[in-house]
Amino acid sequence: MSIKLGDTAPDFTQESTVGPISFHSWAGDQWVVLFSHPKDYTPVCTTELGMLAKLKAEFDRRGVKVIGLSVDGLPEHAGWSKDIEETQGVALNFPLLADSDRKVSDLYGMIHPNADNTMTVRSVFIIGPDKNVKLMLTYPASTGRNFVELLRVIDSLQLTAKYKVATPVDWKQGEDCIILPSVPNDEADSLFPIGYKTIKPYLRTTPQPA
Ligand code: BEZ
Repeated sequence: MSIKLGDTAPDFTQESTVGPISFHSWAGDQWVVLFSHPKDYTPVCTTELGMLAKLKAEFDRRGVKVIGLSVDGLPEHAGWSKDIEETQGVALNFPLLADSDRKVSDLYGMIHPNADNTMTVRSVFIIGPDKNVKLMLTYPASTGRNFVELLRVIDSLQLTAKYKVATPVDWKQGEDCIILPSVPNDEADSLFPIGYKTIKPYLRTTPQPA
């Protein structure tokens, strides 16, 4: 099955470092980042998981739960977690799914056989409180991700879920937003009483809604 934006994130039950997880009930009504990494005891993954653990408070502040996955088992996760703490200076503070039967990897299309038939690629799924998939990223094993960029994207997703705006290139929290082209000017007048700038009829900017 190939997952597309707007689809319901498939539900599953799988073992994890915090016990068996039933995904939808674990997610509750929060945003979720579900990500895969290729393999335990590998260098890039070690740095990625350390960075995510360091940024966990930023995900918490945004009401986002984080959960990782690889096709390794619980004993590997347990041993590798100690290495992450030792080398990255931070203990894992989010669950890792032990997907050795590939149940979740197959469900989410995280194994790309023409890249590698045995390991997951670096997939990211951001799932909204409505359980719909809001964003997907796929990186190859050789390229570590930028999780600060993920926080920036979450800020945009959460803002645009609430207001009729989009966010421009490289937008960051607090910067001007773009009024959706589907919003006519008379509606924009009432939705954005603080005002907006019309650069072109299709390009209208407004201060970030509160
Ligand atoms: C790594 O995490 O370093 C890695 C994993 C699989 C292939 C290449 C690199």
